[in-house]
Amino acid sequence: MAELKYISGFGNECASEDPRCPGSLPKGQNNPQICPYNLYAEQLSGSAFTCPRNTNKRSWLYRILPSVSHKPFASIDQGHINHNWDEVGPDPNQLRWKPFEIPKACQKKVDFVSGLHTLCGAGDIRSNNGLAVHIFLCNSPMENRCFYNSDGDFLIVPQKGKLLIYTEFGKMFLQPNEICVIQRGMRFSVDVFEETRGYILEVYGVHFELPDLGPIGANGLANPRDFLIPVAWYEDRQVPGGFTVINKYQGKLFASKQDVSPFNVVAWHGNYTPYKYNLENFMVINAVAFDHADPSIFTVLTAKSLRPGVAIADFVIFPPRWGVADKTFRPPYYHRNCMSEFMGLIKGHYEAKQGGFLPGGGSLHSAMTPHGPDADCFEKASKAKLEPERIADGTMAFMFESSLSLAVTKWGLKTCGCLDEDYYKCWEPLQAHFTPTSRSPTEPK
Ligand SMILES: [Fe+2]
Repeated sequence: MAELKYISGFGNECASEDPRCPGSLPKGQNNPQICPYNLYAEQLSGSAFTCPRNTNKRSWLYRILPSVSHKPFASIDQGHINHNWDEVGPDPNQLRWKPFEIPKACQKKVDFVSGLHTLCGAGDIRSNNGLAVHIFLCNSPMENRCFYNSDGDFLIVPQKGKLLIYTEFGKMFLQPNEICVIQRGMRFSVDVFEETRGYILEVYGVHFELPDLGPIGANGLANPRDFLIPVAWYEDRQVPGGFTVINKYQGKLFASKQDVSPFNVVAWHGNYTPYKYNLENFMVINAVAFDHADPSIFTVLTAKSLRPGVAIADFVIFPPRWGVADKTFRPPYYHRNCMSEFMGLIKGHYEAKQGGFLPGGGSLHSAMTPHGPDADCFEKASKAKLEPERIADGTMAFMFESSLSLAVTKWGLKTCGCLDEDYYKCWEPLQAHFTPTSRSPTEPK
C-alpha cells in the first residue's frame, strides 16, 4: 500500500481536494448554485451553530451523493454495546482484567463494529454528558459496512494489529502506539489484517482538546504539529442496495442500506475532521529534582467538563523517560483519587506492577478506591540506588481518567471472563515497617 498523506496540525481550518479532481473545492463560498464537478455540498456540524469561535466546529464536504441517499434505518442486534449503567450493581473494588480474548477468525468472523464491547461508563447519552470505555476485539475487515456514532467521539487506541481506517475525509493507517480520534457523526470503516484488539474512549457531547500548558509554555506534551489529518480521497463505487451504514444512536445500533460507498467525498474544508497521533511524539515533562509531579503532566488530550480543570475524560500516557528524582520513592505513590482511573497497556511492563497487568488487559480504580504499587515494587523501589535510570523503555501504558464515577457492565464483570479475581492479593504482602522509637528511616526488610 502506498504511504498515505496527511495534513499536520490540531484543530486548524484545513482544505483538501482529491488530486484526481483539481479545483473541486468551491472558490470563495460554501454553496455555489452548482458545485465544481457537479458535486453535492453537505455541512457536518460538530458544535452548535452559535458556539464561540474557539469551540465552533464544522466541515463542508463535497460529495458525489449526499449522505441522505439511503433507505430507512432499522434496529439491529446490539452485540455487547451497552449504556445501561445499572445493569449490575456498583463495585468499588480495585478491578483488573487479563488480556481480553480476541475471537479466532477460523471460528467466527468478527469485524470492528461487531467486536465492540462496552466495559464501563457513566453519564447520559441523551443529555450529551458522559463517557464509555469500549474494548474492540475483531479479526475481519468491515466489508461494505461503515459506522458512525451519533452519541459522541471515539478515541481509538489499537493494542494489537494495524487498522486501515476509511473515513469521509480520507484514509488513515494506524498501528499500536498510535491513536486516532473519530468525531461524532463521521462515517468510517475499519480494515484489519489479523486478530486485532484495542481500547476506545467515547465521550458524549464534548470534543477532545489539547490541554492548556500553563507555566510549561508554548511547547511540550503533545505538540499540535504532530497530529495528522487525512487528505481527501473518494471512491465512486456502486454497491446496489448493498452498502450498510451502521449508526449508534442513543446507545442503540441501527442499520440502513444504500447503493453507493459513503466514501464519496471528493473535497472538503473545515476544522471538524478525524485525526491521528503517534504517542512516540509526546514530549515528556517530569520531575528533575525530587518528588513527583501529578500525572496530569502526561495528558495527551482532554475532554473538558463545564467545571474549570475538571475533565469528562483525560487521555494520559506513561511513556518511556528518564527517572532522576533524588531522595524520592520513584514509582507512582499510593493514592486515593476523586477521579476514576481506567488503565490499559499497549505494550511492555507497567512500572508499578510487573506481573498481572498485561498488554491487552486493563484495570479500573474507581473514585476514592485506594491503589498504588504492589508489595514487590514497594520493597524494591524503597531500596533502589537512586541513579538516573530509564523508565518504561519498550512500554506504553495509558489511562482514561474521568471525573465521573464509572459503572462496569455485565460483560466487564462476568461475560468477558477476564476479570482477575486475585488482584487484591498483590497488596496483601505489604508489611508495616513502623519504628515508633526511631525516626531514622531504614530500608524495608
Ligand atoms: Fe491511580
